[in-house]
Amino acid sequence: MRKKIIAGNWKMNNDLTLLNEFKDELKSFELDENVKTIICPSFVFLNHFKDLDNVTIYSQNINNNVSGAYTGEISVQMLKSVGVFGSIVGHSERRMYYNETDETVNEKVLLAKANGFNVILCVGESLEERENKKHFDVVKNQLLKALENIKDLEDIVIAYEPIWAIGTGKTASSDDANEMATYIRNVIKELYSDEAEKISILYGGSVKPSNIKELMSKDNIDGALVGGASLKAKDFSQLVNYRK
Ligand code: PGA
Repeated sequence: MRKKIIAGNWKMNNDLTLLNEFKDELKSFELDENVKTIICPSFVFLNHFKDLDNVTIYSQNINNNVSGAYTGEISVQMLKSVGVFGSIVGHSERRMYYNETDETVNEKVLLAKANGFNVILCVGESLEERENKKHFDVVKNQLLKALENIKDLEDIVIAYEPIWAIGTGKTASSDDANEMATYIRNVIKELYSDEAEKISILYGGSVKPSNIKELMSKDNIDGALVGGASLKAKDFSQLVNYRK
């Protein structure tokens, strides 16, 4: 059975006071241990979660270089040295606002793989691309490029995040989300055969306590990457405990 994963992407939200409030409140909920629970806070707060049981901390980004003169950037090696062993890669906000290309995404995935570092690889189409029925081609292309020269999928999770559903309150219908997750699994099958059945595919885009059960009931959706609803401990715990 594939691992179920609920990952919270905090983006550029929450200061230390709010983070401590979140942690105190989260401790009052018992999280389902069979669900891998991940929180991706800002770099400055990565080390503030050591006292939370059953929660894995990932970063929201990594640099595509090993080290060097890249002012303001954070390397995989730096993250590993402070006990962080995974990151989101290729989030649409990074592609949109920070000129992240399929090539840099591929460099990041290659670097992560070379370091045994976990990756949540994000793919997803814009509204225009979906309306023009290009969504399958766009997602396939993102996958092919991001995974170029990647020999196996160990340590990699894929998150399908349609851009039009992120932070908009518009969730893809569970059938649409599952249709794309199924398509992604088929693309992975063409590339990596048997590994396709093992890789976890997450859905992201306005996931909240009211729609998580329905999304998770779909056969090819193994978890969720959650922005807004991951900022409140109560909502986040309800997402993790979607089976209860
Ligand atoms: P959202 O963000 O849940 O606020 O739509 C999801 C994401 O960007 O990962």
